[in-house]
Amino acid sequence: MAPPIRRIALSTGGGDAPGLNAVIRAATLAARNRGWDVVGIRDGFNGLLAPEEYDGNGVITLTRDAVRGIGHLGGTIIGTTNRGNPTAYPVQQPDGSWVEVDRTPEVLARFAEHGIDALVTIGGDGSLTIGNHLHQAGLRVIGVPKTIDNDLEQTTQTFGFATAVEFATECIDRLHSTAASHGRVLVVEVMGRYAGWIALAAGLAGGAHAILIPEVPYRLEPVVATIRQRAERGAKSSIVVVAEGAKPVDGELTIVGKSIGQAERLGGVGEKVAHQLSELTGREARTVVLGHLLRGGQPNAFDRQLGLRFGAAAIRALDEGLDGVMVALDPPTVNYVPLAAAVARMKTVPLDCDTMLTARDLGINFGDQMPHDV
Ligand code: F6P
Repeated sequence: MAPPIRRIALSTGGGDAPGLNAVIRAATLAARNRGWDVVGIRDGFNGLLAPEEYDGNGVITLTRDAVRGIGHLGGTIIGTTNRGNPTAYPVQQPDGSWVEVDRTPEVLARFAEHGIDALVTIGGDGSLTIGNHLHQAGLRVIGVPKTIDNDLEQTTQTFGFATAVEFATECIDRLHSTAASHGRVLVVEVMGRYAGWIALAAGLAGGAHAILIPEVPYRLEPVVATIRQRAERGAKSSIVVVAEGAKPVDGELTIVGKSIGQAERLGGVGEKVAHQLSELTGREARTVVLGHLLRGGQPNAFDRQLGLRFGAAAIRALDEGLDGVMVALDPPTVNYVPLAAAVARMKTVPLDCDTMLTARDLGINFGDQMPHDV
């Protein structure tokens, strides 16, 4: 039988996503209602690994007061980072260079010093991989799947995705009238890393005419033909949604850069596509990059609810003696799946899923097939 729990820690890691505070609120209340103490580690694991940066307060007590009225707020009240991986922590050397150091033993020692019996790690593939590593190293860990990208296996949906799609859709809605008024091609670049979930969902909902996603390497000829065909039919404007991870056939990803201890940053493909489309069609093409706007703001009702359900389920999992699992949406319920299975691979858009088929049936071009000439 698993030893009894007296104190748990919550950690939020990687990019923020709408719904994080809902998870923190639900997990804190569900734990406190079981008589457990709850703390939040500041900025991923940095509160444990670099307490001096927080005047010794790298771990904060999450009281009922601390989580009152936060369920509808964007961001995370305990902070997050994508630079604090304890298994590959960036450490500057005396000569100014950086190396990545495995600080797992230290982080486990800090958990013990703080009397923390279990960790609820709320994050995407990076944070959940760290969580799985700490679980294998002996810590009791439950994962909660977060990311606007929706690229995590074993859960039907991550929290944050629905809000990001809703906002992107609203932006595309707004761009239709200005594109039509000027007869322009508007290219909308959205986040999503190596998966096209946001681009596909928002592009379909927002009535895009072409959608370029990482799962379908693109050529611009079919997109140009779609734009021309629309013009012949009297529509002088077109909307092209491009996922930041989209890449041309035989081409490369567009990368902003990579720093030590961080994943590579994608961005800029929208501008490239707009420039090329402008040259190929002779029409004015402009780019709008939605970027971090997709991560900000209040979670919508779906993500608030999903965050609350995930947070409470994480505590039930611990109460049931589970360890090394991730809570997962499996409609109509939330269940538990092995953390290892959740991080084994990325969930990309299946090319035969009904959302893709729907988009193709509507004549949305993915840059891989010429439009039907009917
Ligand atoms: O994973 C979420 C995400 O917003 C991706 O869509 C994007 O590629 C990345 O994070 C951006 O990270 P950063 O905030 O470090 O630029």
